[in-house]
Amino acid sequence: MSTPRSAAWSPDPFATEVCEYLQRTPRQLPSKYFYDELGSAIFEAICRLPWYRITRAESALLARHARQILAPLARPVTIAELGCGSGDKLATLLSSAAERFPLVQLIDISAAALEMAEHRLRAMGLTSVLAHRATYEDGLEHAVRQRPGKASLLVLFLGSNIGNFDPPVARALLARFRGALREGDALLLGSDLVKPERELLLAYDDPLQVTAAFNRNLLRRINDELGGSFDLDGFAHRAAWNAAERRVEMHLVSRRRQQVHIAAGGLDVAFESGDWIWTESSHKYEPAQVLEEGLAAGFSRGEQWIDPDARFALTRFSVS
Ligand code: AVI
Repeated sequence: MSTPRSAAWSPDPFATEVCEYLQRTPRQLPSKYFYDELGSAIFEAICRLPWYRITRAESALLARHARQILAPLARPVTIAELGCGSGDKLATLLSSAAERFPLVQLIDISAAALEMAEHRLRAMGLTSVLAHRATYEDGLEHAVRQRPGKASLLVLFLGSNIGNFDPPVARALLARFRGALREGDALLLGSDLVKPERELLLAYDDPLQVTAAFNRNLLRRINDELGGSFDLDGFAHRAAWNAAERRVEMHLVSRRRQQVHIAAGGLDVAFESGDWIWTESSHKYEPAQVLEEGLAAGFSRGEQWIDPDARFALTRFSVS
């Protein structure tokens, strides 16, 4: 049966990108595809691991400095969180003053995460909660369009999500955020800081192998959704610190010679033993570098809070 001419065929971006990235040198997979329902649940478990300290360090900063973070914003304040995950951090920030926020907007690409976050915030008594299933850029556009006329907008980009972008892309993203905001608005950015290699490697290769499961789940997702033939036991999880680029890289290393077929893209990929797929980069920052990047993106001022162990920085960039 032929396809009617009017029914436009649009390729599945997941299939297209997986096949394109697997043909790069070195082979890669985009980390944004980690977050299906199971991947989001495994990530929530990572955030509770004793070796992964980002979430706890950031939550402690949010709890301790909530008043200072929110005080300079002109009332009423609407809040939009890009990549809200479970909504726990937003709940921490708003806990002492939930009634003062007329509208909270949640943006995530994971439907499961949005559902969890919305439930979490409504349970705190917030009634005006809007959820947008969208990328960061599209989500911010929705949030800007939906803000009540006179309200100032505080955009949250937490959890060191910025670290998963290569520096030029991170810079362009900050400039995009700045471009969408107006005078009186602000961006609160969470960035993980450079720390000893041993600590970083334990955070990304934990003794319970939860991060290994998170990494391999991407292959499981490709098998389920794209008709892939990855043997999950055939790939080992590896975390490596790239000191020159100041990033932790996650890889999946082929344990033997093997061939993988991806039905959705009609692709065959051959692996020798030791060949690897680069699945994620987590860039780590110096505090001054974060400030420089925000100012270079066009924000007028940056104020920073760093935890006592110098593990994590929260920076509020203002627009004036
Ligand atoms: C979401 N993102 C900031 C996490 C990170 O630390 O790069 C994802 C992650 N990957 C492995 N563990 C956690």
